[in-house]
Amino acid sequence: MPAPDTAAFGPGFTWGVATSAYQIEGAAAEDGRSPSIWDTFCKVPGAIDNGDDGTAACDHYHRWPEDVALMRGLGVDSYRFSVAWPRVVPGGTGPVNPAGLAFYDRLVDALLEAGIRPNATLYHWDLPQVLQDRGGWSQRATAEAFAEYSGVVAAALGDRVTEWSTLNEPLCSAWIGHLEGLMAPGVRDLGTAVRASFHLHLGHGLAAQAVRAASPGPVRLGIVNNLSTCEPATDSAADLAAARRADGHINRWWLDPVLGRGYPQDMLDVYGVDLPDQGNDLATIAQPLDWMGVNYYFRQIIADAPDAAAPHFRQLPGPNREHTAMGWEVHAAGLEELLLRLTREYGVRELLVTENGAAYQDTVAADGTVSDPGRTAYLEQHLAACARAAAAGAPLTGYYAWSLLDNFEWAYGYDKRFGLIHVDYPTQRRTVKASGHRYAQIIAAHRSGATDVASTH
Ligand code: FCB
Repeated sequence: MPAPDTAAFGPGFTWGVATSAYQIEGAAAEDGRSPSIWDTFCKVPGAIDNGDDGTAACDHYHRWPEDVALMRGLGVDSYRFSVAWPRVVPGGTGPVNPAGLAFYDRLVDALLEAGIRPNATLYHWDLPQVLQDRGGWSQRATAEAFAEYSGVVAAALGDRVTEWSTLNEPLCSAWIGHLEGLMAPGVRDLGTAVRASFHLHLGHGLAAQAVRAASPGPVRLGIVNNLSTCEPATDSAADLAAARRADGHINRWWLDPVLGRGYPQDMLDVYGVDLPDQGNDLATIAQPLDWMGVNYYFRQIIADAPDAAAPHFRQLPGPNREHTAMGWEVHAAGLEELLLRLTREYGVRELLVTENGAAYQDTVAADGTVSDPGRTAYLEQHLAACARAAAAGAPLTGYYAWSLLDNFEWAYGYDKRFGLIHVDYPTQRRTVKASGHRYAQIIAAHRSGATDVASTH
């Protein structure tokens, strides 16, 4: 298969890989880290496949030099990682833990030495449990604590880190964590979920201000949302209306307020929950952003479900033949559509694909290689979709593959492998998969201006 033509990306394009703290670090009780809501959730019987948890994960907390060297080998420009709040401010608010901060300090230095620009996410779901004990994101105080912690991190790392994002996928924190109960903290209540979404947004706005105020260096700040195109299952009026509600629930609720449009009225009507707005909050939420991060995995096919709880829709399996090990339909055109929608409908001036990738059941062969043609095809198809969007005018400046390493895939535990690099958990041995070699080749080809390298697969 020919390599995707990446000429539309331009020479300054950022090629990256992404991870998050709880999914890779391990060392859950080391150097003063306090438990997060994920440590707690992992103890709930049945919450996580195989009873897995993030106690050891990829042991990145100790093996980071090897992981930085692997990134260097791939030739990436940038590494998107997250900072663990319970390491840096174990009490959620108040005293800073120097040992926790020192870990990120070392990591950032090593990245820069390797010629890799850090892109730091301040919250990738690991709320200190002590804040959950006081109500977590259902409380305004959590948004304020998040800003305090974010300022601490920016003051410490901002002389070297320029790229920041506040929240990763607040949709998952609010809807999956507080409405569906399938992620930490495992709450199932619409009112709590809506209030949590509002406080997450408020936390984003306050943290954006805190990062800009505290950083000793230049700041380029964004927020990372997971977005999906929402297509009606049929052209019935009921399914069309359901697809519109799904779009509100999945996309517009997360985009409109941070981009200064307030919360979508149709969704306020669907939820019927009063927002805990204290007057000026919408202005705080709508902080100026330097870029918008898009995490894309699959599209949504939506049917009306009047008997289901609000927002009354059902997701149907997609019709494409190819599905990943997560059961997610492979549909690259959805990414192109999303990038163009953000450009045309929302006027976003800079876009980053901050996550995109696929889980497959990979194994290390007797000769020590990992062949993962499904992931390689997924990567190539989605890069081609990005290139089409860029050629059509989307201001896309970078792409981060999810993920650098196989890791703890939340409620699915370690069975779902998203890495460009295979991790053998008992030995912690890392093996670059064929898709990782392919990614390195695409990056190198882009840099040298060649666009038609033949695939090795
Ligand atoms: C996203 C998360 C990331 C990872 C991928 C597969 O929703 O941001 O941590 O789990 O999905």
